[in-house]
Amino acid sequence: MLLPVLFFFTALGAGKVIAGPGSGSSGFQNPILPGFHPDPSCIFVPEEDDTFFCASSSFNAFPGIPIHASRDLKTWRLISNALNRPNQLPELAYSNGSTSGIWAPALRYRDGTFYLVTTNVHDKYAQEDPTRWDNIIFQTDDIYDDDSWTDAVHFNFTGYDTSPFWDDDGTAYIVGSHAYRVEPGIHLNKVDLKTGELKGEWTNLWNGTGGLAPEGPHIYRKDGYYYLLVAEGGTGLGHMETIARSKNLYGPYDANPANPILSNANTTEYFQTVGHADLFQDKKGNWWGVALSTRSGPDYITYPMGRETVMYNVTWEAGKWPVCEQVRGNMKGWQLPKSNKKIPEDGKLVDEGDHDIDFAPGSKLPSHFLHWRPPVGKDTYTVSSKGHPYTLRLKPSKFNLTGLDGNYGDPAGGQTFVGRRQVDTLFTYKVNLEYSPKTIEEEAGVTLFLTQNHHARVGIVLLPMSNSSKTLTPHFRFHAISNVPVPASFSTPLPHSWTNKKLTMQIHTNNQTHFTFSAGLASGSKKEMKDLAVVPGSIVSWGFTGSLVGVYATANGGEGKTEAYVSNWSYKGEGQVRENCAKC
Ligand SMILES: *[C@@H]1O[C@H](CO)[C@@H](O)[C@H](O)[C@H]1NC(C)=O
Ligand SMILES: *[C@@H]1O[C@H](CO)[C@@H](O)[C@H](O)[C@H]1NC(C)=O
Ligand SMILES: *[C@@H]1O[C@H](CO)[C@@H](O)[C@H](O)[C@H]1NC(C)=O
Ligand SMILES: *[C@@H]1O[C@H](CO)[C@@H](O)[C@H](O)[C@H]1NC(C)=O
Ligand SMILES: *[C@@H]1O[C@H](CO)[C@@H](O)[C@H](O)[C@H]1NC(C)=O
Ligand SMILES: *[C@@H]1O[C@H](CO)[C@@H](O)[C@H](O)[C@H]1NC(C)=O
Ligand SMILES: *[C@@H]1O[C@H](CO)[C@@H](O)[C@H](O)[C@H]1NC(C)=O
Ligand SMILES: *[C@@H]1O[C@H](CO)[C@@H](O)[C@H](O)[C@H]1NC(C)=O
Ligand SMILES: *[C@@H]1O[C@H](CO)[C@@H](O)[C@H](O)[C@H]1NC(C)=O
Repeated sequence: MLLPVLFFFTALGAGKVIAGPGSGSSGFQNPILPGFHPDPSCIFVPEEDDTFFCASSSFNAFPGIPIHASRDLKTWRLISNALNRPNQLPELAYSNGSTSGIWAPALRYRDGTFYLVTTNVHDKYAQEDPTRWDNIIFQTDDIYDDDSWTDAVHFNFTGYDTSPFWDDDGTAYIVGSHAYRVEPGIHLNKVDLKTGELKGEWTNLWNGTGGLAPEGPHIYRKDGYYYLLVAEGGTGLGHMETIARSKNLYGPYDANPANPILSNANTTEYFQTVGHADLFQDKKGNWWGVALSTRSGPDYITYPMGRETVMYNVTWEAGKWPVCEQVRGNMKGWQLPKSNKKIPEDGKLVDEGDHDIDFAPGSKLPSHFLHWRPPVGKDTYTVSSKGHPYTLRLKPSKFNLTGLDGNYGDPAGGQTFVGRRQVDTLFTYKVNLEYSPKTIEEEAGVTLFLTQNHHARVGIVLLPMSNSSKTLTPHFRFHAISNVPVPASFSTPLPHSWTNKKLTMQIHTNNQTHFTFSAGLASGSKKEMKDLAVVPGSIVSWGFTGSLVGVYATANGGEGKTEAYVSNWSYKGEGQVRENCAKC
């Protein structure tokens, strides 16, 4: 059993710009982007006030492809979501499969334009099915402005993890991982990035060193070589990063004898699954890398935040292979860049929490709030609807969070859900909920949500008093679904004095492995909250995404249309675990 070391921090004020303690000094902590931020791709852009930008995968979450910015490699702020209008990629609405959607965006900058190349994967289709892999390009000239991101431009590639590269003569290429059961390895083609038109044939460059699923490729030009960086071993405990190089873009590529250059496989590190990397240089010329990692320890059972973004320093001498520092929670690294200029304040700092979001009249849902697939219906989510200021009104979806089969989104109805990432090992999430269900089986509540087939929820639902009774009364109902055993579902009538009252609904971490759902009268004290269910984090430790906490409303397949009103939304970080105690 691993015992954690807890690092407690004080919450930062909402919307306040903090330069980051020790800005300009050396030393930083992983993960740099805590919570569901897998498959990072990061760049340094001197033309944009010496700013670092990172993109990460969003799968079915919408808005998708979050872009974070930093000037000191320590303070990271969400500055836009590249995928923020449903019509940029209408196909996301029917991305059947819990592991479908946006995989591995590659972010690059050239001549004033940011390019984001990625794949919308229909993960329920067969590997061989070319329609499984929808490869796309987004662009913007103003990365801080959501509206400026283009619609997806599609290009034809039977694979995923596509990444752009420009040769010395300015010709644009895309390198990607071919669907490995079909034709393994890393493939390259010349592509018109504006139109998606292929200018040649896909050519197999390298197959990696023999690990499972060579993927996540990026090409770097350095000292007369083309370096090809690749992830292998699959995104689990065997994950690793390998590299090869050639004097010719089309190869042959020679593998680094020291491969893998980055991995925590076969170690007892708390940070596991390290891989899917990208490399960049700061203004001083120091090299850095990012990768995904899972805070699970080698037992790999409880990791509700899924694959997060970590950083490490890299030594890359002229003509030599890059050498990467091993990923841990506390890193020394190179001296961090100094910056007095702040990132524009629109979005959240990654670890900032939600300090009583009030849904004030005229406000919008914050940019870090997420739906599962694009929202369906024009007024499913309404901030401060008429007669209900300082609330978020939810109109119920026909289907509950599981939906028909735990995968399917149902474009006609979707799921009424809005949440935010769990970004702290320990946290308290709570909302107030005004909801008086009128139709049998209609329900609204809070959820710890990984995917449609991995989540736990506690809702207020209208049910008969007993099997023999026709009297309907509001109940609390707990339900969970996972690939591992879940606590049994149950329902229990609301205490009489709570019926038709504004309630506080809360999800709180007991410790790093367990979550408690509780409820109480919003007017009551903390002490009067009742614990309703305890769930292990292992039930939301699966697949490619990370947990969200949020609210939902559903008719559970019935006819219910009653709206729910959410207010006083709060998420407070209460501690990060960054290492095994064996190391403390
Ligand atoms: C995509 O490319 C494959 C070969 O790589 C080809 O068989 C297929 O017809 C192409 N599809 C389209 C829509 O051009
Ligand atoms: C990659 O492996 C395939 C067989 O699976 C082989 O045909 C191909 O030549 C290999 N490519 C390279 C560049 O070694
Ligand atoms: C981890 O150990 C296994 C079994 O010995 C080996 O096959 C694998 O290559 C190792 N992985 C790394 C990254 O060292
Ligand atoms: C990372 O930084 C530390 C501290 O500056 C340094 O000792 C170490 O050699 C660096 N590691 C790599 C692989 O560059
Ligand atoms: C998605 O799954 C549902 C339910 O299994 C099915 O009815 C529907 O046809 C699928 N949609 C697509 C686009 O494959
Ligand atoms: C109500 O019916 C269900 C399903 O038939 C049964 O499992 C449950 O035990 C019954 N509850 C009571 C209180 O009789
Ligand atoms: C974490 O909390 C759960 C639920 O309260 C409890 O069963 C478990 O023993 C706790 N784990 C540790 C290590 O204290
Ligand atoms: C979720 O909805 C489906 C029908 O849409 C229903 O079969 C299932 O019982 C619901 N689950 C719960 C816990 O209500
Ligand atoms: C809930 O929000 C309202 C409106 O923003 C505010 O007046 C009230 O103080 C909040 N209540 C709590 C318990 O924070």
